[in-house]
Amino acid sequence: MDFLKDLGLKEYNPGACVGADKWLATSGDDVLKSVNPSTGEVIGYVYQCGVEAYEEVMTQSVSAFKEWRQVPAPVRGELVRKMGVALREKKDALGSLVALEMGKIKQEGDGEVQEMIDIADFAVGQSRMLYGSTMHSERFQHRMYDQYHPLGIVGVISAFNFPVAVWAWNAFLAAIAGDITIWKPSSNVPLCAVAVQNICNQVLLDNGYKGIFNLVIGRGSTIGERLINDKRIPLVSFTGSTHMGRHVGEVVAKRFGRTILELGGNNAIIIDDSADMNLAIPATVFGAVGTAGQRCTSTRRILIQENIMDDFVERLVKAYKQVRIGDPLEEGTLMGPLVDAGAVEVYEQAVREIHEIGGKIVTGGHALKDKTGFFVEPTIVIGENHWEIIQKETFAPILYIIPFKTIEEAIELHNDVPQGLSSAMFTMNMQHAEQFLSHVGSDCGIANINIGTSGAEIGGAFGGEKETGGGRESGSDAWKAYMRRQTNTINWSKALPLAQGISFDI
Ligand code: UN1
Repeated sequence: MDFLKDLGLKEYNPGACVGADKWLATSGDDVLKSVNPSTGEVIGYVYQCGVEAYEEVMTQSVSAFKEWRQVPAPVRGELVRKMGVALREKKDALGSLVALEMGKIKQEGDGEVQEMIDIADFAVGQSRMLYGSTMHSERFQHRMYDQYHPLGIVGVISAFNFPVAVWAWNAFLAAIAGDITIWKPSSNVPLCAVAVQNICNQVLLDNGYKGIFNLVIGRGSTIGERLINDKRIPLVSFTGSTHMGRHVGEVVAKRFGRTILELGGNNAIIIDDSADMNLAIPATVFGAVGTAGQRCTSTRRILIQENIMDDFVERLVKAYKQVRIGDPLEEGTLMGPLVDAGAVEVYEQAVREIHEIGGKIVTGGHALKDKTGFFVEPTIVIGENHWEIIQKETFAPILYIIPFKTIEEAIELHNDVPQGLSSAMFTMNMQHAEQFLSHVGSDCGIANINIGTSGAEIGGAFGGEKETGGGRESGSDAWKAYMRRQTNTINWSKALPLAQGISFDI
């Protein structure tokens, strides 16, 4: 595995850093194992960050912010541009590491690095467009405008399923905004985090900057809790389960910090009888089976017009049979393992619940125990939307097929779940499409026509409603969350007129 060396990884790795040149947590007993989910074998070890190292990272971040916020935004952008170049050079190696440590197939690992490159490019442009507005004052000879200032330290807590891209969505926008990032990655994928820090911090160091991107790999119960409670962190961007996100949201709100929450999804595709099946079938397979069903945007429900259901299921099952399950690094594999043994248990528990409720499993339904690692079969179930198991997000490749008669019924079923991340409709009926995208249509943060629920481009704002948490990351105007807005009014007259026509003579 030459790519591990290429990414600066060793058998034992430090678990915290302040920029590139200061690695902390370089020894100790609290060692985290990075496990290859395809084999169950250990890839490497990371010394976990304790409270002392956390404090050092934090103190240095506070002082780094004082300098970084003074660097002109386009200069900050230029540094991010160079990181985009470095990531292009390391794309193959980093994509391979993502596949090895997380278990998604190499194509998807490379795709994730491509998302990092894309958001770097986006951030470079944005660094010259941190626009505020000007307003016309109601007062004579007054000028009024708003502007965006750097916010401070941004805490990024990321999930295992996108071990590198989600950090980049946050960190590159935070960097051009003039902020410092402290990253606590998922304990399933610590090597990806170390590798990313190696690449990006080297660019900063080569250009005379440090301490902009920092890392704390440690336990959620100690380091994670400390981070979300830390008043020195005005913004916490959290990606993970709705259960954990509720806790993060409450803790940060209590201290008047801000959050960007990107939580559970329960994404559906509506397919009506005008749909082009040559689009709908592959979109469903990619959405439900891609990343072994472990994307927030994974397709979990298919709402299908009842007159085409049998035909659709038959074609889908045929497509599922062709999905090659195996080593994510091997060419031709379409589905890798789940992330760990716990994830396999969650899958098996869901299958048990489906059986208990009398659900019909059309294909799949078993963990592949004869293989090493954490493999399961992609599974299709005929279901009813109100089932408890369908109402919650199971992070596994289980797809429920739910029939409907009218488009109104389909939209109602579609929205009748607690989550609201991504959604799609396959149709050639323009009225159906417009209805789905209208204010009486999908209630999700993302709604697509003739494109599946997963694989969003970075250019749009990414996030969702209801129990998905309401945060927006990545493109569009998501950058504003990483800055503080200030409204300024300047009186250049020789009088002091009050607003609202008030006179207050003394
Ligand atoms: C996630 O699963 O947390 O839209 C992010 C997608 C990817 C990002 C998913 N671009 O599927």
